[in-house]
Amino acid sequence: MGQPSRRTFLDWLFRGGLSAWVISVTYPIVRYIIPPDVPEIDMSSIEAGLLSDFPIGGSKIIRLGRTPVLVFRKINGDFRAMEATCTHLDCTVQFKKEDERVWCACHNGYYDSDGKNISGPPPRPLGRFDVIVQQDKVIVKKPDLA
Ligand code: FES
Repeated sequence: MGQPSRRTFLDWLFRGGLSAWVISVTYPIVRYIIPPDVPEIDMSSIEAGLLSDFPIGGSKIIRLGRTPVLVFRKINGDFRAMEATCTHLDCTVQFKKEDERVWCACHNGYYDSDGKNISGPPPRPLGRFDVIVQQDKVIVKKPDLA
């Protein structure tokens, strides 16, 4: 057993560097492809804003957990909140205050102000949420299923 040669030493150095490079390149790619399992935060309600944020006909899209929710105020002052994702092909819907309907621009689908699909391709109504006004805060909550 003699001393390791200079060539052996350089081989080990090269292999170590190459291994480190491969790991540093592949690890972020693998983490991107297989993201860590993040559990959804169990949210049953969220503050959508202040009453003054919702003039008559005003609307806003908020998030309740991972669900985008369209919140709007009708001409009679009532609030409505429903899923902001079209039931046809998942485009984001918007409130059209001129005719008090919810519109999906992707394929010209319409829902009434209660989220019922009334024209165009959407096959199902939008899921509804409850809206509560406490003092001057507008709170959106998942419907009571009891
Ligand atoms: S995605 Fe909304 S109508 Fe097609």
